[in-house]
Amino acid sequence: MTKLSILYEGKAKILYETNVSNELIQFFKDDATAHNAQKLEIINSKGIINNYISEYIMNFLGKKGVDNHFIKRVNSREQLIRKVKIIPIEFVVRNFAFGSIIKRYNLSKEYKFKKPLIELFLKKDELNDPLINDDLIIELGWVNISELEDLKNKALIINEHLVNLFSKINIELIDFKIEFGKTVNDNKNKLILADEISPDNCRLWDKSTKKNFDKDIFRNNTGDLIKGYQEIVNRFEIKIES
Ligand code: TMP
Repeated sequence: MTKLSILYEGKAKILYETNVSNELIQFFKDDATAHNAQKLEIINSKGIINNYISEYIMNFLGKKGVDNHFIKRVNSREQLIRKVKIIPIEFVVRNFAFGSIIKRYNLSKEYKFKKPLIELFLKKDELNDPLINDDLIIELGWVNISELEDLKNKALIINEHLVNLFSKINIELIDFKIEFGKTVNDNKNKLILADEISPDNCRLWDKSTKKNFDKDIFRNNTGDLIKGYQEIVNRFEIKIES
């Protein structure tokens, strides 16, 4: 497999074409952004840690039957993934109220939802990723009604698996964001989990102390981000080769 030109560069990752038409290389950068990139810093080795954590979680989900884009990790910063056309909708699943939803609806912090709640956001930085509803998603044509229902179901199933996985290391999964894509060049057009799952896009709190080990450390300037992410690596006993 040969790495070719850049297909897409985002805030935290770069996607490269390869000589295999339906496979890409996903490179994890050290860039950390918050508040729609108004806050930006390079945090040494964040990309490496997220590559390993996302590998661990995607492998775990794959074993649970959640079809996803991960094929294999290539090196400390890169993984081989299936090429998909990303659906430009961020699926946020919330178990407890925290972050933007508190301000939006004046909810009490840490309120536990009776059942996991899904919010959908349009993935569009220029518009500040606004909330979007089902009708508009269908109107705009990225997915049809049954596909949207399927994706919401998948998001809830992923949540169940992740809540269990993180519980084993005494972590409460407060919320997380995932993205899906449609497979390309394989005549299947399957909707699968894509992007990454790491402390960059989850809220992860110690169940006993409520100390957090996620990107809120960076968003809110509350400490050393790498120490936080490393705690997740340590608890999962992920071996990072240096
Ligand atoms: P929020 O409370 O800011 O809406 O975030 C909910 C969850 O989604 C939280 O775990 C952080 C994650 N998230 C992202 O990964 N990327 C984003 O652009 C946003 C807004 C949230």
